[in-house]
Amino acid sequence: PQVIFSGIQPTGVPHIGNYLGALQQWAKLQNEASPKTTLLFSIVDLHAITVNQNPRQLRNACHQMLAALLAVGLDSKRSIIFFQSDVDAHEKLMWILSCRAQMGNLSRMTQWKACLAHRSKLNLSDNAPPVEALLNTELELGLYSYPVLQAADVLVHRATHVPVGHDQAQHLEFARKCARTFNHRYGTIFQLPETILSPAKRVMSLTQPHLKMSKSHQDPRSRILISDSTEEIAQKVKTALTDSVSGVSYDPVKRPGVSNLIEIMHHFRADGASCKDIARDCENLTMRAFKEQVAKCIDEHLFEIRQRYEELMGKEKEGYLREVAESGAVRARESAAETMHLVWDAVGLGGFQ
Ligand code: TYM
Repeated sequence: PQVIFSGIQPTGVPHIGNYLGALQQWAKLQNEASPKTTLLFSIVDLHAITVNQNPRQLRNACHQMLAALLAVGLDSKRSIIFFQSDVDAHEKLMWILSCRAQMGNLSRMTQWKACLAHRSKLNLSDNAPPVEALLNTELELGLYSYPVLQAADVLVHRATHVPVGHDQAQHLEFARKCARTFNHRYGTIFQLPETILSPAKRVMSLTQPHLKMSKSHQDPRSRILISDSTEEIAQKVKTALTDSVSGVSYDPVKRPGVSNLIEIMHHFRADGASCKDIARDCENLTMRAFKEQVAKCIDEHLFEIRQRYEELMGKEKEGYLREVAESGAVRARESAAETMHLVWDAVGLGGFQ
């Protein structure tokens, strides 16, 4: 039977990169899945603490993310929606996988290398030495070993399919490696999970279109949140970086800003119009008129999601969200327990079990 698993960090309200690259796809998979398919979607709060978090803000961001998952159309009766920290087996399996995981593989992770190269997310003191000299001093373990936890997330539910955006592909390759290593050493327990890349695999920043849209970028105008108002959307699209070439054309290399807007429109429209079709239809528009169309298209799509999100964030829905999280945790624990039973047995853990 198919088991679909994916995770998202509790970054508060998701942006349209998260939405197009992941959440929209999750809802679609859920709605099209056969009744036999199990679907699990986790808000990965343990991943979030690899960087410094203010505890109250983290809790609030978790609450917002849960409301957002329901607002985009995940159904808590059909899908198992849960907080990672509610299911202990994730960390237990992480430890077991860690004991066999190789540091060489972790050191080659693009996201880790980017953190080293830009000294970002590393929580370094002001007078920290250059990164090469840091390896024996103050680098923290979590950010580095994070892909092992991600592998455990997927494997503990014996997922067969994992829908993600492009930036997670390497981590999933590593998860398969962990599974192969374990199976080879202890006997075959894990299926190798397949990556499902969403059609919108890389939505770019509005202000720096050579970078992916991300919650960690400074400028809030670089991203549109799924709760943004009509005016906010219009304003952010209006100030999106484009170029001085006249007219609209699709050329991601020469015109990254305009092409990103075309792609965003393509994914939101979902009427089958390709990026080239859209570019042709808008060919003679001024940049201003084109941007107005892009903003309108995004706004029309997000309208209902935004309304549901606001409703779910209301005081009176707090009890409901709590129930969703509790029932999700119970079901996720059951799913993980089945695997852990096999793992205990294979590895020889659990004393006189
Ligand atoms: P996270 O929280 O950064 O992102 C959640 C999902 O959104 C996708 N995404 C994007 N897709 C397209 N364009 C973008 N600009 C963009 N930004 C984000 C991501 O690819 C992802 O699918 N480590 C993961 C969370 C995780 C996970 C897992 C995922 C933990 N355990 C197990 C899958 C399976 C992360 O930080 O995603």
